[in-house]
Amino acid sequence: MLAVPVRRLGSCSASLEGYKLGKLLIEGKTKQVYDLPDFPGHALLQSKDRITAGDGVKAHNLAGKAAISNRTNAKVFEILNAAGLKTAFVRSCGETAFIARKCEMVPIEWVTRRLATGSFLKRHPGVEEGYRFNPPCQETFFKDDANHDPQWSEAQIVAAKFTLNGLVIGQDEVDIMRRMTLTVFEVLEKAWAARGCALIDMKIEFGVDTQGEIVLSDIIDSDSWRLWPSGDKRLMKDKQVYRNLSTVTQADLDVVKRNFEWVAEQLEHLAPATNSMVVVLMGSPSDDEHCKKIAKCCKDLGVPCQLRVSSAHKGTEETLKIVAEYEGSGAKVVFVAVAGRSNGLGPVLSGNTTYPVINCPPVKSDNVAQDVWSSLNVPSGLGCTTVVYPEAAALAAAQIHALHDVAVWSRLRVKQLNNFVSLKMADKKMRVLTL
Ligand SMILES: Nc1ncnc2c1ncn2[C@@H]1O[C@H](COP(=O)(O)OP(=O)(O)OP(=O)(O)O)[C@@H](O)[C@H]1O
Ligand SMILES: [Mg+2]
Repeated sequence: MLAVPVRRLGSCSASLEGYKLGKLLIEGKTKQVYDLPDFPGHALLQSKDRITAGDGVKAHNLAGKAAISNRTNAKVFEILNAAGLKTAFVRSCGETAFIARKCEMVPIEWVTRRLATGSFLKRHPGVEEGYRFNPPCQETFFKDDANHDPQWSEAQIVAAKFTLNGLVIGQDEVDIMRRMTLTVFEVLEKAWAARGCALIDMKIEFGVDTQGEIVLSDIIDSDSWRLWPSGDKRLMKDKQVYRNLSTVTQADLDVVKRNFEWVAEQLEHLAPATNSMVVVLMGSPSDDEHCKKIAKCCKDLGVPCQLRVSSAHKGTEETLKIVAEYEGSGAKVVFVAVAGRSNGLGPVLSGNTTYPVINCPPVKSDNVAQDVWSSLNVPSGLGCTTVVYPEAAALAAAQIHALHDVAVWSRLRVKQLNNFVSLKMADKKMRVLTL
């Protein structure tokens, strides 16, 4: 398939999937960026059937590469968007293009490494290939093909005072992009690990959208990372295969293309449907407000939640039937027990199921101490935990699910990132106030 899907309508107008294309804003080695006059603040990124390496010194046409790259990028960004990350990606548009928020780009490549390999080894003699970074190693390179993208320190980035869509890139913005970079890597590393592939390192870029917000931009495809199935370098499936070629035959290009296709195919299965759920059992329907708050927080974290009513004191058999119902369902369940006054519900659940049980009593201000104590002072042999706030119950349940559910793990990680970003922005705002 050739990457020329733009339909010419007249001498100077074109459209794609109903989007009228404006002027060509920029053309790089692997894609063109078109303005979208009817969709302000957005652009269309058209991939090319072109593969390049060594700052463009090595370059080949590779029929079908645009479609594979576009499919790979779309899937990766859908995973990141679903986790709650702020990205420029909006949606695919045909097989070889996508719509994105139109950005002014930060001219920095943000590199994250889990294992030392490639150029890192040349710059750090003595470090053995495969050295593992915990936390991942982060590096920044100034995008400057003519000077082979020199490595830049944070101080150099801040000193450059890049001003993009009105936002000056200072230390706060660098801190935010550094933390976002780490989260992007961790989310994709976890997702690939679920397919038995080790994400060794990767490169991303940021832009500032027309609202002045920093968003993950550009593309992420097989050119962006090193990916070693089973952690075995010899099985590598990324563009390194192309970089390593001294002469390039059609057969070599076919191998590279097959690898890229394999990656795009794997991505379809990267975030499989899971069967995590939270069951909130309330002793009385009068506690439903408290329980709905738990359900709302679960939903925000991507964990389905069911509300049930059962009193362990007044309907013990019914409570045990409900336990059996979920144990036999095949779902992975965390129970949250909501019982005021004397909490028999949580301990009865905990003593009769191997699923985790979290007590979240709906405490009333006139009786807080006794009600909380009732949940804490459980008989020996029981391991239910107790939290007081609905949000805490949902978070505790999600953290349990995150042990087996990559999507929930990612939501939690991005929530932590977003807390970091909001605190930093609040601090930035407060800092400049003179009282
Ligand atoms: N959301 C976006 N809005 C505006 N421009 C973007 C967006 N995403 C990427 N770009 C820019 O599109 C241009 C073309 O991309 P391409 O990757 O082909 O460039 P390139 O030749 O590889 O150069 P570079 O070394 O800058 O990546 C790049 O300058 C890139 O920064
Ligand atoms: Mg590029």
